[in-house]
Amino acid sequence: MCGIVGYIGPDQAAPFLLEGMSKLEYRGYDSAGIAVFDGTEIHVDKSVGRLNVLAKKVDSHPLKGQLGIGHTRWATHGRPSDANSHPHTDCTGKFVVVHNGIIENYLHLKEKLIAKGHKFTSETDTEVVAHLIEECYQGDFEAAVKKVLEQIEGSYALVFMCQDEPDKLICTKQDNPLVIGLGEGENFIASDIPAIISRTRKTYILNDGEMAIVTKDSVWVMNRQGVPVTKKVFEVNWDAEAAERGGYEHFMIKEIYEQPKAVRETMTGRLAKDDSGVTFDELKWTKEDIAGIKKIAVVACGTAYHAGIVGKYLMENLARIPVEVDVASEFRYRSPIIDDQTLTIIISQSGETLDTLAALKEAKKLGSRTLAITNVVGSSIARESDQVIYTWAGPEIAVASTKAYTTQLIVMALLAIYMGSLKGTLEQEKARELCRELRNLPNQIHELLEDVEPIKTFAQQYGFKEDVFFIGRSLDYAVALEGSLKLKEISYIHAEAYAAGELKHGTLALIIEGVPVIALATQKDVYEKMLSNIKEVKARDAVVIGIGLKGDEQIEKYVDHTIYIPATDKFLTPILSVIPLQLLAYYAAVTRGCDVDKPRNLAKSVTVE
Ligand code: F6R
Repeated sequence: MCGIVGYIGPDQAAPFLLEGMSKLEYRGYDSAGIAVFDGTEIHVDKSVGRLNVLAKKVDSHPLKGQLGIGHTRWATHGRPSDANSHPHTDCTGKFVVVHNGIIENYLHLKEKLIAKGHKFTSETDTEVVAHLIEECYQGDFEAAVKKVLEQIEGSYALVFMCQDEPDKLICTKQDNPLVIGLGEGENFIASDIPAIISRTRKTYILNDGEMAIVTKDSVWVMNRQGVPVTKKVFEVNWDAEAAERGGYEHFMIKEIYEQPKAVRETMTGRLAKDDSGVTFDELKWTKEDIAGIKKIAVVACGTAYHAGIVGKYLMENLARIPVEVDVASEFRYRSPIIDDQTLTIIISQSGETLDTLAALKEAKKLGSRTLAITNVVGSSIARESDQVIYTWAGPEIAVASTKAYTTQLIVMALLAIYMGSLKGTLEQEKARELCRELRNLPNQIHELLEDVEPIKTFAQQYGFKEDVFFIGRSLDYAVALEGSLKLKEISYIHAEAYAAGELKHGTLALIIEGVPVIALATQKDVYEKMLSNIKEVKARDAVVIGIGLKGDEQIEKYVDHTIYIPATDKFLTPILSVIPLQLLAYYAAVTRGCDVDKPRNLAKSVTVE
C-alpha cells in the first residue's frame, strides 16, 4: 500500500499535499515525496523516512506552485531510499508520476526502455511508467496516458503530471483505490478520503479502468476506450478520524476486511498464470540448492510463530524436509543443532522484533542459510537475511495481527509448493490443484466476510465468559493456537488452545457446564477422531462452536453452533478457518468495551528482549 495525493487550484499545492499525505501515512511511511509545477518547470523533493523528514526539507526551501502530486510509500519493489521514493520522473523531467500498486510486467518493460536509451535511477517498478509516458508522448498528454495503460499490467492507482500541459492532472486506477475531491475552482486527488476531507466532502470514487482528467474547474471521467462516464457525487458524512479507518470502527476490522486483497497481492507474480506452479524471482533456487537443504528451522514470535507451525505441516508434507519451529526467545538458549545444511526461515511482520532478529544472527553464526518472510521492505530482518520473501499485506496498524498472518500462510503454502516441485516430492498435478485452490482463496475469504452476523451474535452471547478453549487436530490445532492468541490479546478473556487429543491428559478437568469450546474440524483425515473429542467436551456440558467445511452435515449433530468455511485443499484450510476466529475475537473485544487496536500492555513492534 502507498498513499497518493494531487492538487490543482489557486492555492499553494505543497501545504495541501503534505497535510493530505499525513492523513495517509497509515498506508505507508517509509519514504515520501512531492512534485510541484512552479509555472516553468516541475520540481521534485523526496526523502527516505517518515513524512516529517520531507516536511522539514520542504520547510527549508519551499516548493512554490499551484499544481502538484505527492506520495507516501510502503516499499514493494526496491528498498526504502531517496532514489526509490516517489514521485518518479522520466529522462527529461517533464513527466512525473506517483503510483500505488505493483506493475507486474515492469522488468520486461524496463528492458525494452533501456534498449531504447532510457536511463533509470531507481529500483522501482513505478519508474517504468514515467519512462513509458515519455516514450508514448507525441504532444497529447491524454493520448500518451492511454497508450501507457495499454502496456502496463498489474494493480495501480496512478496520477500523472506533464510539464507541457500544466493545466491538468490525469489519474486512473485498477485494483487500488482513488478518489477525486470536488472543490470550488480547485480539485483534489487522493488514495483515500481522509486526505481531502478537510477541504471537501464531495467526491467521485473512481472505478477500475476509469481515467480522469482533472483541471481546477472540471473533472472528466472516461473508461479505457475513452467513452465518457457519468459519475455520481459521493457525499462523505463521516468524521475525519473515522475516515482514516475507511469508515470502519477500528483498524483491526478494516485489516480483517483487507485480507482478500492482501492475499491476492502476496500471490501476484508468484503463482504461474496457468496455475502450473510457483516461481519466486527473489529465490531462483536450483535443484542442487534444494537438495542441499537437509533441515529447516523456522523461528518467529507470537502470530508469526503460529504461521511457522502451519508452515511446518506444509513443508514436511509437500517437500518432505524435516522442519523444527521455535519461538525466537527460546531458540538461542537451547543450543540449536543448525549448520550449513540447514535453512533457517525467519518470519516477522515488522522485520524488527528483537528476539527474532537475534535468532537470525545466531543462525547465521552457526553457518545456516537464512530466508526472511517479512512485510516491511528494508527492515532489519530483511537486511540481515541472505534472502527475503515479502508479504504484500500493506502496513498493519492494529496491534493484533490479522492480514499479516494470512499473507504469511500464503507464503508458507507457496514456498512448500515451490520446494516440493523442485525436489520432486510434489507431483505436477497436485501442484496444479493447489495453485488453483490458492487462486480461489481471495474470493472465499470475501465470501466469509460477507456473513459475519452469526459470529457477532456468538461473541455477544459468550463475550463475557472468563475462559474459552480452542481445540483441533493437525492443521486445525495450529489455527486453534492463533485463534486463542487473538481472543486473549484483545478481549482479555483467558483462552487456551489444545491439540484435541491432549485434552484427556489434564485439561478436560477444566471443562465444566457452560464453558465455551471452539472446535475446529476441517481436516478429513482426523475428522472422526475430532468428533470423538467434541463428544468428550459435550459430555461435560461445554458449549461447543464447531468450525466445519461447507457440505459437512454431520458436525451439526454434535455441536451447539456451527460456522462453515468454504471447502478448499486441506493444506490451505488455515487461511480460511482463521477468519471466523479473528472475527470472534474482534467482536468479543468490542462487546467487552476493550481498546481493540491498542490492547493493554502490548506494542506493535517488540524491540526489547
Ligand atoms: C499478535 C501479534 C504478535 C506478533 C509478534 C511478532 O497478534 O501481532 O504476536 O505476531 O509480536 O511480531 P513480528 O511479526 O512483527 O515479528
